[in-house]
Amino acid sequence: MLSIMIAPLVWLDIGEQYFPSDMYEQITNTHPEINFTSIENPPVPLTLHNLDVLNEYGNDGMNVYLTSNIDVTQGPAWLDGVVPDSTGKTKNAVSCAVIINDHGSGDVDVFYMYFYAYNLGNTVFFHELGDHIGDWEHNMISFKDGEPQAIWFSQHANGQAFTYKVLEKEGLRPITYSAVGSHANYAVAGRHDHAIPDLNLPVGFLLDFTSQGQLWDPTLSTYFYNYQPETASFESINESPLGAMHFKGRWGDQRYPDSDPRQPPPFFGFRKFVSGPTGPWDKQLNRTNVCPETGIPCIIRDTLGP
Ligand SMILES: *[C@@H]1O[C@H](CO)[C@@H](O)[C@H](O)[C@H]1NC(C)=O
Ligand SMILES: *[C@@H]1O[C@H](CO)[C@@H](O)[C@H](O)[C@H]1NC(C)=O
Repeated sequence: MLSIMIAPLVWLDIGEQYFPSDMYEQITNTHPEINFTSIENPPVPLTLHNLDVLNEYGNDGMNVYLTSNIDVTQGPAWLDGVVPDSTGKTKNAVSCAVIINDHGSGDVDVFYMYFYAYNLGNTVFFHELGDHIGDWEHNMISFKDGEPQAIWFSQHANGQAFTYKVLEKEGLRPITYSAVGSHANYAVAGRHDHAIPDLNLPVGFLLDFTSQGQLWDPTLSTYFYNYQPETASFESINESPLGAMHFKGRWGDQRYPDSDPRQPPPFFGFRKFVSGPTGPWDKQLNRTNVCPETGIPCIIRDTLGP
């Protein structure tokens, strides 16, 4: 299967503390809340198969937050995720979702959705900003007639695209570097300066670091799906659970209010703790280009760089 043969291999940073994580653990270690109030007695014990029952609550599930049962400031161990073993596998932890969108006429997009239980934000002038429970990052490889063309690397609010042929590879498999803490994806190791569109900090203030710490092979512990753009729905491959893909809510706690003692005073309007992310359904799975539509031109780089 092409989606596995050409799948990215991910270098986790040497200083990483928050590793890829089991998607189901996110459910067993949390409870659903809306506006900081528990949803009492969801109709069934929640699993990855039925998680989308939560779409019946609140605003079609969009304001449902899977909220940690243990206070995040106590550093619950489940947030640490699973260090890949010597084969690159996150043992007993399904930490990836591969999603295939076959556009027809030989155009196939394959998304590699990486799941981490925790995102440690970047430190800006001694302020740790943008921590959140739950973290979905991704690569997307666009194929034409079975040949990989270009790859998208998600990075914070946006990302970068490269041609397949310029990327570092192990055999046919392109290499991705996951930034320490934030898990933003890069094509090279080293230091990455950021100007982020929705973050009005002076250029260079936000820094990501990538290096060859632990090698993770996401395909060794993953679910697989086909995506149907007409209905914006997923089809299970090999009995992969559908509820997790159709759940419209957030995979972590809601941003704590400023009155919450866990939330330090904001720094230029940015907070230490922000809300957990939406799931793979919200990553523009039916693209016309390798980049998502953000209003920023899609530049497909053909030289490697930070
Ligand atoms: C959230 O809860 C607070 C306190 O219970 C309440 O004042 C507020 O109106 C609620 N907000 C929404 C959007 O329901
Ligand atoms: C999905 O994207 C293709 C282009 O790749 C477009 O032609 C089609 O209309 C889109 N489908 C939907 C339902 O948006």
